[in-house]
Amino acid sequence: MTHSIKPNLRNPRSKQPVRPVHIVGTGSYVPDRILTNADLEKMVDTTDEWITSRSGIKERRIAPDWMCTSDMATEAARRAMQQAGVREDEIDLIICATITPDMPFPSTACLIQHKLGAKHVAAFDIEAACSGFLYGLEVGQQFITSGSCDTVLVVAAEKLSTIVDWQDRSTCVLFGDGAGAAILRSRGEEHGILTTCMGADGSQADILFMPAGGAKFPASKESVSARMHVIKMEGKEVFKSAVIAMQTAAEEALKKCNLTIADIKCVIPHQANVRIIDALADRLGAPKEKVYVNVHRYGNISAASVAIALDEAAREGRFQRGDLILLVVFGGGLTWASCVIQW
Ligand code: ACO
Repeated sequence: MTHSIKPNLRNPRSKQPVRPVHIVGTGSYVPDRILTNADLEKMVDTTDEWITSRSGIKERRIAPDWMCTSDMATEAARRAMQQAGVREDEIDLIICATITPDMPFPSTACLIQHKLGAKHVAAFDIEAACSGFLYGLEVGQQFITSGSCDTVLVVAAEKLSTIVDWQDRSTCVLFGDGAGAAILRSRGEEHGILTTCMGADGSQADILFMPAGGAKFPASKESVSARMHVIKMEGKEVFKSAVIAMQTAAEEALKKCNLTIADIKCVIPHQANVRIIDALADRLGAPKEKVYVNVHRYGNISAASVAIALDEAAREGRFQRGDLILLVVFGGGLTWASCVIQW
């Protein structure tokens, strides 16, 4: 059977060259208010010594009531755009990774779009907990590689202080608020984001989750009084899974690029706990000076952690154009991801 073809038909996806994708700008924002371990000693039965020895965290940032996830995200995005020299009218797509959206819908990405004045560009959220920024980079990259977009904003932002149980000493000491962003474009050179490996294991969903507020347990008087709208975590189980998943993901990404850890200038892991980071570094054989750590200043900011760490490491000159860096993350879902970039 023959198909009649419209003479002027053009398939925009055909003959698109595969384009390498680069991070051409980064930015981050954390709120001014610092909550120290000493402050927490007055709120729950804990000590600076316990928090420091178990997690490495000394302080975290807490956003004021009026400040939403989208506000922090917009500020981080503006800083990334400024560094990249990108105007809001040049952005083709906004992807926001968050587990603390301003509201269930519309997406936080749409709110960021409006706050940035990036008129009519596509915008959506992704939810992969702490792995969200790397999931977002991979999704954004695909849009550029395929030729659908030229400029993508990937932003990860969290106001975790709104879903932390401030009466639960085993979790409230670990988390904080903030945002990090990256602008993706093709510079037309060979290097850039070389590979991303992503994975998930939904069978372990119940070791790190927030039970209520979705379709399973919509908000009700009962769900509020049962404290179901806050983070629940089996700390020891998460710890074990985190180390194994991040090691596996990191090794997979290195293998795909035919690299070893010796080739990597800087490792930027998810900033959940300094003991997890140390265990990962040991297993990868990465010397401490190669591994970027800021968890002592911010605690765990879920999706935003690695985005903020990437921005700070880049601005501190921990790597230069052409250097190889490895990002590796882990989070609720469970989810994990790794990414090798030639900067
Ligand atoms: N202050 C004082 N004591 C505490 C505190 C606290 N803040 N919290 C718990 N304890 C007590 C516990 O009650 C327990 O007491 P018990 O022995 O009398 O029962 C004791 O300290 C030991 O508790 P453990 O849970 O065994 O402590 P552990 O060494 O496992 O450390 C921690 C706990 C820090 C939570 C650790 O398990 C961990 O970091 N897990 C991974 C957490 C993580 O990374 N989560 C996020 C990853 S993904 C994402 O970012 C969303």
